[in-house]
Amino acid sequence: MWRALSIIIVLSAAIFWLATQPRPVVIELPHGNAENGEMVAIAAGCASCHGADLSGGKAIASPFGTFYAPNITPYALQHWTKSQFFNAMIYGNSPDNKHLYPSFPYSSYQDMNLQDLADLEAYLQSVPSVEKANTPHDLNMMAKWRRPAGVWKLLRGTKPAPIERGGYLVETLGHCQECHTPRNALGHLIYKRSFEGGVVYGLDAKVTSKAPSLITGDSADWDKAELVEYFTSGFTPDFDSAGGEMVEVIENLSRLPLKDREAIADYILSLNK
Ligand code: HEC
Ligand code: HEC
Repeated sequence: MWRALSIIIVLSAAIFWLATQPRPVVIELPHGNAENGEMVAIAAGCASCHGADLSGGKAIASPFGTFYAPNITPYALQHWTKSQFFNAMIYGNSPDNKHLYPSFPYSSYQDMNLQDLADLEAYLQSVPSVEKANTPHDLNMMAKWRRPAGVWKLLRGTKPAPIERGGYLVETLGHCQECHTPRNALGHLIYKRSFEGGVVYGLDAKVTSKAPSLITGDSADWDKAELVEYFTSGFTPDFDSAGGEMVEVIENLSRLPLKDREAIADYILSLNK
């Protein structure tokens, strides 16, 4: 009896270990264009978390503790291969073969196309290097261990890869669901309830704000021109202005070509059909 039990325990541990072992993928990225990469970084909001100069340090609160976005200037990334960058952005695996925490929204970025990834990589290698050490995360006991992030990844749902430009900007680069979709107790996005509104944590995990539903909230009544105006100036049709975490998102969106903001508006409008 005890023998059978210990065999089961050992086997389960082995299965857990194997199933959650990050496996690096070697990939050849196309030649990257840093100028286009800057637009990718803007659309993807890298600076919103990693800081205006990308040297990191911004705090991201969560029920699991506080994460500090690391330095992603050449000081930190110059020795990374393109494959290592690919593995971080698409699979959330670090060069030393550990799971990165999903506070880095790789679950959204995983559908990034290879040319955009190559361009982004070229851009990051071209920005001024900032010699700054990373602030260690301040996490609760379980979260300190990176293996459970592997279980988290295995259990997260899948969302269909976007086909159109608008879907790509919203679902992948803009990672809009990360704020606008509710999460379950494990912190997984509930894709069955996409864009029904989510919780945004501030600097203090106890102070949360709401990202409104884009299906039933105020903006569900806005037309395309009104959405585009909001994404450009932050003004709503009733002359209110965007607040909270959406301010930085709009700062980014306003720097994209008008065509892109229109594509985002079309995609958001299509959600309500
Ligand atoms: C919502 C906040 C957020 C956004 C947006 C974000 N990141 Fe991060 N990123 C993080 C956090 C937090 C970590 C640390 C994860 C960890 O330690 O496991 C991280 C880690 C990384 C790493 C791994 C660095 C290392 O030293 O291991 C890279 C590379 C990275 N981010 C690049 C980017 C790029 C490029 C973008 C834009 C396309 C981006 N991030 C957008 C929060 C963010
Ligand atoms: C970091 C979290 C976050 C991200 C990422 C984010 N949003 Fe928001 N969004 C918010 C918050 C918070 C508000 C509420 C702003 C306010 O209170 O004025 C908001 C408001 C909005 C509104 C207005 C809704 C209303 O009823 O007033 C729209 C439309 C919107 N977001 C679209 C988007 C789109 C499109 C994206 C992706 C490109 C996106 N958001 C990404 C947090 C976020």
